[in-house]
Parts: sequence; structure tokens; C-alpha cells
Amino acid sequence: MTRKPSSRAVPPAARPHEPRLSTLHLAPESLGFALDCAAQAVGAVRLGAALPAALSTVFASLPEGSAAASHGAVQDIAYRTMRRLGVAEWLVARLVRKPPPPHVAHVLACAFALLVDDEASAAYTPFTVVDQAVGAIGARREFAFAKGLTNAVLRNFLRERSALISESQRDDVARWNYPRWWIEAVRNAWPDAWQDMLEAGNTQGPLTLRVNARRSSVDAYLQTLHDHQIAATQVGLQAIRLEAPLPVDRIPGFRDGVVSVQDAGAQRAAQLLGVANGMRVLDACAAPGGKTGHLLELADIDLVALESDRSRAQRIGENLRRLSLAADIRIGDAGNPSAWHDPSEPRFDRVLADVPCSASGIVRRHPDIRWLRRAADIASLVVEQRRILAALWPLVKTGGELLYVTCSILPDEGELQAVWFGNNHQDAVRLDAPGQLLPAVARAPADPSAGSRAGWTTGSNPDHDGFFYARFQKR
Ligand SMILES: C[S@@+](CC[C@H](N)C(=O)[O-])C[C@H]1O[C@@H](n2cnc3c(N)ncnc32)[C@H](O)[C@@H]1O
Repeated sequence: MTRKPSSRAVPPAARPHEPRLSTLHLAPESLGFALDCAAQAVGAVRLGAALPAALSTVFASLPEGSAAASHGAVQDIAYRTMRRLGVAEWLVARLVRKPPPPHVAHVLACAFALLVDDEASAAYTPFTVVDQAVGAIGARREFAFAKGLTNAVLRNFLRERSALISESQRDDVARWNYPRWWIEAVRNAWPDAWQDMLEAGNTQGPLTLRVNARRSSVDAYLQTLHDHQIAATQVGLQAIRLEAPLPVDRIPGFRDGVVSVQDAGAQRAAQLLGVANGMRVLDACAAPGGKTGHLLELADIDLVALESDRSRAQRIGENLRRLSLAADIRIGDAGNPSAWHDPSEPRFDRVLADVPCSASGIVRRHPDIRWLRRAADIASLVVEQRRILAALWPLVKTGGELLYVTCSILPDEGELQAVWFGNNHQDAVRLDAPGQLLPAVARAPADPSAGSRAGWTTGSNPDHDGFFYARFQKR
């Protein structure tokens, strides 16, 4: 997975317009408590923190026991709100005349995210949402003055729900729930598919497993799932999609490394590298080690896993330990090999360059990314990707291969980079690879033969996130 734009949580005390909140007197199992916590996390994302880090900060601030009691609901509301933030913030601006304090606005946004979502109303009935949001605002003494406002605004919305929702659809940000620049970028890049792709990013991705080829096979593992009454379908060479998500501790064999959780599109990387026993392989941007583990499952290779972020690099070791596999893990900048690669060391048969990117292809799993990225980030990422590619190429043996990967749907980071690389490296021969994999919305009931008809590869498909793959061989 791509590193998030910011892995920092903004500490509550450092938030510019949000003084430390008073104690919240609500039962941790209540929806009001969950709305309050989710609103804090949404506020932190709006100040630049990645959602997982923001949620960790919120949970760490709770009294003992409260985090466990509220965890599932807080996470669910915060993630849903990221997917509906455009319309939720539009409704706050439309229905509240004078901008409320940020925390009140974020509680309202979380409540609206639940109220506009037909699927959410199965879990959270509209009048309970209103009642609990009012309770959450009233439970903090500094915001108690806004109880009446919260009640009036949410009830007004329920009264005029369909008119307000149709009015909101005239605004692109509210319609699609992405920043305007992002909508423009996807529309320009994919004039025939942009709507489907934006919509796909607002769904929850499927839970896909990778079967460890050293430990089992897809057929044998499908039988295991069947024996546990877990419905699943093969969606790639080693990929199995569960019909309904499950916590990992309920997935048979997960703890022992029989399977890993990995998107079907991400599983293409190790397969495309075509590793064979005895090869020397560099995984140049390796954390948290999803593709590292897959490569080691496929052959007995001598693998160097490089990562620039020391704390993320730890996760490579943790992931490999679960799989009982090992790599030579190094900390360093892929763009500066002299700092971590001795010139006397042999060069590599295969190099995987899973470079930092916009992560625009994996928004369904990381719905906060769209609100954290800025339009200007793309140009800097393009420069960084080129720097890394140019530095890695001399490490490839003659006859060896480099695989360029991004989890982006933007051509600037995909095909245009591949063309740039080919034009600037006369000794590079471009080999077959899927190119751009585009995410799509799952519409019909899952068709088990669809994957094989598509060769598990290119085009739009609900079974994979958005990725770009280009493969080069050194002459
Ligand atoms: C797309 S993620 C890699 C995902 C990983 N390959 C996997 O499958 O689990 C990119 C990683 O590259 C790291 N990174 C960013 N810049 C780097 C650099 N200059 N050198 C090495 N690693 C870098 C990021 O910290 C991040 O962990």
C-alpha cells in the first residue's frame, strides 16, 4: 500500500481552531459517543492528518475500556463520512447560516453522512442519528449552546431530504464526494469511465486474500473456506474474494501465514516479475511488505527489501514473520543507491519499483486520501518517481527486468512515466504488462467466470483497485 500523504495525527492541543475538548459524558457504546469521536477524527483529517493516524490519536485519548466499546462504530462512521464528505459539508454550509465551531460542524457532517446514505440507514435509523447527534453536542459543555441548532438543522434536513439531496447534486463536489481538482483530473484522463471510477472509489472494496503458494493452493483453500461456510470466489491466480468481509482472526489459516490480505490488482506485481529460484531481487519501496511476502512465496530468491521510512520498514519484518519468510531489509532512499548498495554487490535479476504515488487508485480502501492530496502534489510525485526509476535502472543486470508500479489512476504517474522512461533509457525494452488497471463499480451479481474471461488482467474491474504496471528489460 502507498504511504499516505501524512502519517501524522494532529495532536488535539496543536489544532489551530480547536481548543482541547471538555470531558464527554456519554456511554461509550452510544451512537452519540461514536459520532463525537468520529467527528474528532474528521476534524484532524481536515487539518491534514491521515485517517488511521487520526483515529489512533482519538482512541488513545479515551478512558480505558471506551476505545474497545466504541471502536467499530467510530471507525465505521469516520470511513463513511470520508466517502460522503462532499455532500455532508455542502449540507452544513447550506443549512447552517453562521459557520458553527469546527467540532459542531464535524458532528453535523458525520450525522449527514449517515443520513444521506441509504445503506447506512439500515444500521442507523434517521431519528436515532438526529437524537444522538444532539446528545453528543449537548454532552460537551462548551458546545451545549448549539444543541438547538443541531436539532433544528438535522430535522430540517429530514423534512426536505429528497429536495436537498437533488439540489446538492448540482455541485460537483457534493455530487461525487471528491475535491474539484480530483474530479477534473479523472474526467480529463478517462472521459468514458470517469463517473464509474469516482463511484467505485465511494464503495467499500472487497476483502481479497492471497493464497500462499508454499502452503496451499487456490482450490484447496476454497475447499477450506467452504468447510467453514465462508462464501468466496477465485478472482486471480492466487486471489480469492470473500463474499462478505471478515476480521482477519476469523479467516482460516491467516495467523499461520496460509493466506494474506491483498487486493487482486496488487497481486499482479509479484506474478509479473516472473521470479525463479536463485534470482537476486530488489523490492525497492517495500513497506509494509505485501509484495515482498508474495515474491518470497513464489520462489527461493535472494531478496533485498528497501524502505526509506524506518517505522514502516518494521512492518515488513512483522509481515514476513507471520509467513515464516525472510528478506534482507535495508533502510534507505531508492533514489540514492550508493548509500545502501555496495558497488561490489552483484546487480539484480529483478527490480520492483512500487514507487510513492498519489494513491488515487486505492481510494475505496483509503477514502481520506482524496481530502489530503493537493493538485500540486502530482507534479512533485512525478519528479520523485523519475528520480527513483533513474537511480534503480543501473542496478538491473543485463537481461534483467524492472517492473514499475503505481496504485494511481492518473496517466501522469502511469503511461506517461513509462513513455518517459523508455525515451530516456535506450537500453530498456518495454515488455508486455497490463498497463492501467482501472477500478469499477460491481453492478451485477458476481460472475465467477468473469475473471478468467478477462485473463485476470486489464481494463475496468470491481475486483481490483487502480494500478499501473510497466515492465522493462535491460538489453
Ligand atoms: C506504494 S508503497 C509500497 C507498498 C509495498 N510495495 C507493498 O506492496 O506492501 C511505497 C513505499 O515506498 C516508500 N518510499 C517512499 N519514498 C521512498 C524512497 N525514496 N526510497 C525507498 N522507499 C520509499 C514509502 O514509505 C512506502 O512505504
